[in-house]
Amino acid sequence: MKQKIAVLTSGGDAPGMNAAVRAVTRTGLFHGCEVLGVMRGYDGVINGDFLPMQLGSVAGIINRGGTMLKSARSEMFRTEEGFAKAVQNLKNNDIDVVVVVGGDGSMAGARKLTAAGISTIVIPATIDGDMAGTEYTLGFDTALNTIVDAVNKIRDTAFSHDRIAVIEVMGRHSGQLALMAGLACGAEVILLPEMQMNMDELCEGLVRSCKRGKAYSIVMVAEGVGRGRDIAELIAQRTEFSPHVTVLGYLQRGGAPSAVDNIMGSRMGAAAVENIMQGKLNCLIAQRHGEIATVPYALVQDYQPQVDYSLYELASILATGEK
Ligand code: F6P
Repeated sequence: MKQKIAVLTSGGDAPGMNAAVRAVTRTGLFHGCEVLGVMRGYDGVINGDFLPMQLGSVAGIINRGGTMLKSARSEMFRTEEGFAKAVQNLKNNDIDVVVVVGGDGSMAGARKLTAAGISTIVIPATIDGDMAGTEYTLGFDTALNTIVDAVNKIRDTAFSHDRIAVIEVMGRHSGQLALMAGLACGAEVILLPEMQMNMDELCEGLVRSCKRGKAYSIVMVAEGVGRGRDIAELIAQRTEFSPHVTVLGYLQRGGAPSAVDNIMGSRMGAAAVENIMQGKLNCLIAQRHGEIATVPYALVQDYQPQVDYSLYELASILATGEK
């Protein structure tokens, strides 16, 4: 049956969101549905900022980072008044289902809509790679590659000047991005919010490394641990080193999506529409056991992504010869 689908992107933008919007739009049109793009996430729902989507509306976006629909962390949507207006707007526009592309906060918003009688589907997207219910979130792979690329450049300088390079990476409360980036970059030290930090041990390790003949080191700090600047200061206080700090910041969220993110965005976007056509609503489109899967909201909490401690140990052994 022909459906009227609204698609929005919400929360921190993530490379691969455009691929998902494109896939929802084009798969929806392929099935004879009407598709509306909502500008600026839940703010757009409240303001009735709807854009009729045609095949051409999503032309030339798959290669672009960010999101063509723009995004927001809507404060209004959290208010009773804003939420009521959002629900009313969706009803007034005869929307059958809202596809929300975003992270945990965005999924919470979608679930709230579902509880209010509006059908929703969530496509997971955040560079943090830490959403309940899914092994993969759009944007993670691109951000990872961006970090590796940046650290490779910083390493040239760290090596040339025998310096310690402290790199602060995003991830909010999660260390997934820092761990995988640290492993991929060969970082000597990786600091994760999920693990206890021992500053004395860390500094002793850097000194040992130096004595072994390695005069430069990469220290990867997840932002959930604290600021890279503070870590650098602690190292400077306890050792002879003068670490240099780089906060990668929004650099990690931007840029052309990797092939992985575009493929996942395309597959998840199409899967969302296939679900709608089969009447499977109020669920997360996830990656589980490497496959695209549908997880009803009620079961999302059953799977919590966790940092893989064996990878943490591996990174340490490979970089320093020590656990
Ligand atoms: O969730 C994605 C993320 O980039 C986090 O890694 C970071 O902590 C946060 O968003 C930054 O939020 P804002 O977009 O408000 O700067």
